[in-house]
Amino acid sequence: EILGRAERILSGMTLEEKIGQMTQYDWGYNPINPETGVSQRELLLEEIKQGRVGSVFNLSGAEEANELQRLIQEHTPHRIPLLIGRDVIHGYQTVFPIPLAQASAWKPELARRTAEAASREAMADGVAWVFAPMIDISRDPRWGRIAESIGEDPLLTSEYAKAWVEGAQVDDGAGQAAASCPKHYAGYGLAEAGRDYNTVDLSDRVLREVILPPFREAVEAGALSIMASFNEVNGIPACANEYLLKTILRDEWGFQGIVASDYNALQELLVHGVAGSEEEACERSVMAGCDMDMHSGFYMRHLPKLVRDGRVPERVIDESVLRILAVKLRLGLFEQPFVLRSTPDEAASEKSSYKALAREAARESIVLLRNEGHVLPLPKESVKLAVIGPLADNHKDPLGCWAFDGNPADVVSLLEGVSKATGEEASVLFAEGCGIDSDSEDGFEAAVGIAKQADVVLLALGESLEMSGESRSRTSLDLPGAQRKLVEAVAATGKPVIAVLLSGRPLALPWLEEYAAAIVQAWHLGVQSGCAIADVLFGDYNPSGRLPVTFPHNVGQVPIYYYRKKTGRPPAGVYSSYYIDSTTDPLYPFGYGLSYTGFEYGVIRAERATMRAGEELTLSVTVTNIGDRAGEETVQCYLRDEVASVTQPLKKLIGFRKVLLEPGQSADISFPVNDDALAIIDQHMNRTVEPGSFTIWIGPNASEGQFISIQVH
Ligand code: IFM
Repeated sequence: EILGRAERILSGMTLEEKIGQMTQYDWGYNPINPETGVSQRELLLEEIKQGRVGSVFNLSGAEEANELQRLIQEHTPHRIPLLIGRDVIHGYQTVFPIPLAQASAWKPELARRTAEAASREAMADGVAWVFAPMIDISRDPRWGRIAESIGEDPLLTSEYAKAWVEGAQVDDGAGQAAASCPKHYAGYGLAEAGRDYNTVDLSDRVLREVILPPFREAVEAGALSIMASFNEVNGIPACANEYLLKTILRDEWGFQGIVASDYNALQELLVHGVAGSEEEACERSVMAGCDMDMHSGFYMRHLPKLVRDGRVPERVIDESVLRILAVKLRLGLFEQPFVLRSTPDEAASEKSSYKALAREAARESIVLLRNEGHVLPLPKESVKLAVIGPLADNHKDPLGCWAFDGNPADVVSLLEGVSKATGEEASVLFAEGCGIDSDSEDGFEAAVGIAKQADVVLLALGESLEMSGESRSRTSLDLPGAQRKLVEAVAATGKPVIAVLLSGRPLALPWLEEYAAAIVQAWHLGVQSGCAIADVLFGDYNPSGRLPVTFPHNVGQVPIYYYRKKTGRPPAGVYSSYYIDSTTDPLYPFGYGLSYTGFEYGVIRAERATMRAGEELTLSVTVTNIGDRAGEETVQCYLRDEVASVTQPLKKLIGFRKVLLEPGQSADISFPVNDDALAIIDQHMNRTVEPGSFTIWIGPNASEGQFISIQVH
């Protein structure tokens, strides 16, 4: 029915109107032409009135959205509403933890709820298209966009991709719905040397084994659009890459939604040097299957002539426009292009439920990396705390990257969270010590002074929000500025130090263990940052986060990830694969995280030791909480195909379960082993299960656990 309606609308449209639907602009980009004195927005308003724009993004809110939709209704013959987009990456006004932090919860269900809340808030501002989730496999912490990712693993990212798409594409049943835009398709996270926008050299094998599974999952979950990445794949930038956009996405996966380019990516085809003119860039992109041009304006400028000259068949344009119209129809925009206002009471109750969700998501995102002598949790009473560091009394940076709709005034800082949690019962002293990336040591004296008066020192260290996100690559993974020296100066007082790390990426801080009895990886946690951190520090919440990405000892080890190949070399010895000046082990492995309680794993039970392809075999283990407080364990299952016709990873995650256990309580956790887990992609790029021996681990992280062997006949 939707297609029929789309076809009827299309049949009455002129070529320019059709191409208008394929054209998207950044409304926030508004320079004034020095020669004419006319602003970009004035020009854009004219274009909108003439029906030459299908989508805009970066609007300021509901009023502006309604105003633009009104222009369409009043001035254009077909009244095709604008699809209004926005980068709603981890929350909208209510900012949730950065995606890498949410991935640390190993709870896709929670991300589904944050994504839904974010879409609902955005929809109240007229945004029906959220440019999320970001599901680029990210194995290089130098790359600033690792903060926006789900980390290094295809399975974990796939599970989040599905949940995020389903959550983001909320349909309120009252006529308003949102579309997600999984991005960046494909391989953007593999930029060489972790430098954003750098060349990507990606084999078809890595593409299909590692990079594509989350996108396929997103498509199967019903994603209504996808954003092509800036990078090249096999020499062709994604927005002109027919193999990616047609062969895989449309032909193999049957994707029916919109393919949008990234920002100005058509213009970048010229800079990449794969198009000699704007016309050629247009032709390559549209013929490869890119439906919408984000911001370059090339489609509008050149496609009409390209069609008239016979270089681009009108049928290609029609197919793209049908897809765009179908999404607009599906979202209910034709029936209700304007924002529906909720009552003040409804809005207030939604806000407070989002705030509670922000706290829940933030505390589940925290990973306890070290807890020597069980220094944590801290008592709330009769303790004198020195809270020190540039991230302590800080309301801006916990928002994290891509949080431009968030308000620092809504952020509970670490200092506030700790002070609220202890009330009158503890005395909390504060000194900033130093800035985030300044070399000045002027504040050290005051910091050391309060450390001396305290029983315990809480050091809030890390990165500013500007240090991760797009175009924010680093070559150092150490604490910026004078922060390391601050740690050393404060620790010299002999007081126990608890380090809380607020960062957008894994930092490589092996030296910190010498100074800090406890290390808490708190990422950039959003508006409830301080409350969530206090919940963990004082034991109101038992930390349950697990790393979604490997932490290196040093930058030289990067890229370091658990899903690596064996190589042809023995595990040790002079001619093994190793460094002469560093361990090859991670500082903290993928899947790692501590709890205030302990978990004991029973032996792995297998229904049988042999199976055939096409069958399913269940493995189980009993996990017991052997401590004295309730806690959540994330039980992880990894598999290795011992001998296959093409090289296989040493381990790959095939399942995980997060389970809450009361003290003394046990749970039987099962993992199915079936073709999904066993299959490899063979030398002809076919998915197949090859008979042979498989080793399967069940344990608390990628470096620990027991294993058993099974034979597949
Ligand atoms: O959605 C983003 C994308 O992730 C990076 N380039 C800009 C787009 C729109 O803001």
